[in-house]
Amino acid sequence: MDKIALITGAAGGLGQAMAAKLSAAGWKLILTSRDGARLTQCYGDKHLQIVTDCSTVAGARNIFEVAKDHHLLPTALAHCVGNIRLGALHRTSEADFDACLSANLISAFHTLAAFVGALREANSPGSAVLVSSAAARIGTPNHEAVSAAKAGLEGLVRGAAATYASSAIRVNAVAPGILDTPASARILSSDAAREGAARQYPLPGIGTSDGVAELMLWLLSEKADRVTGQVWSIDGGFSSIRPLVK
Ligand SMILES: NC(=O)c1ccc[n+]([C@@H]2O[C@H](COP(=O)([O-])OP(=O)(O)OC[C@H]3O[C@@H](n4cnc5c(N)ncnc54)[C@H](OP(=O)(O)O)[C@@H]3O)[C@@H](O)[C@H]2O)c1
Repeated sequence: MDKIALITGAAGGLGQAMAAKLSAAGWKLILTSRDGARLTQCYGDKHLQIVTDCSTVAGARNIFEVAKDHHLLPTALAHCVGNIRLGALHRTSEADFDACLSANLISAFHTLAAFVGALREANSPGSAVLVSSAAARIGTPNHEAVSAAKAGLEGLVRGAAATYASSAIRVNAVAPGILDTPASARILSSDAAREGAARQYPLPGIGTSDGVAELMLWLLSEKADRVTGQVWSIDGGFSSIRPLVK
């Protein structure tokens, strides 16, 4: 039987890396974006492409309705939607905070809900991996909005993993440090900024979407069949160790 994976935010940096990994591992893909032209630019006419906004209930459910029309049931979900809006709390507008919650938490909630709903309707096992951030685990200046949203996402992962374990549905997340993708282009816009960012990490450097996608692929695979309710840091030690300062 075909293995079918859904990638949301598939036109983004991590989404494209995930698509390359899953496709190479033999998965059939369903890809979503709010922008059909971006999907075509990235993938031509390959894969089932669905234009939808998964930060709404209707948009998230629409993915599974279209998939069903194509006789497809995704049993793996890589939710690669999100952003990294930075700014001190007192300077974060209501609109910015709402946009941050919508991209990072609300989209995860509705997409995961629609995914487990489709699996349960089909009485199928499955696996989901969401994307948190190192900033959810350790206080990082100017990350208040994204930290709040991603901490909510981590709670969602543990709650859903507990609820659906008896249905053989696994739910995990990865928590990267800064990655070289369009979401961080402004933060990494000069050599000095890149060097400064790289120095923040105990293992100095900037993460790659390829490295994060590799971990996500493993979490989705049967090799991780005993892993659920976990948030895997992939942040050069940023959120968990404090090396000797020389
Ligand atoms: N890049 C980093 O440094 C970094 C660090 C830690 C965590 N992360 C997380 O990694 C994940 C992937 O991000 P990325 O780095 O690949 O960024 P990216 O290239 O900007 O891709 C993110 C995608 O999310 C979609 N999106 C954004 N806001 C949305 C909204 N309100 N509703 C629905 N879709 C929305 C966009 O898709 P469309 O516009 O095509 O619909 C976009 O392509 C995100 O969860 C991000 O928070 C990134």
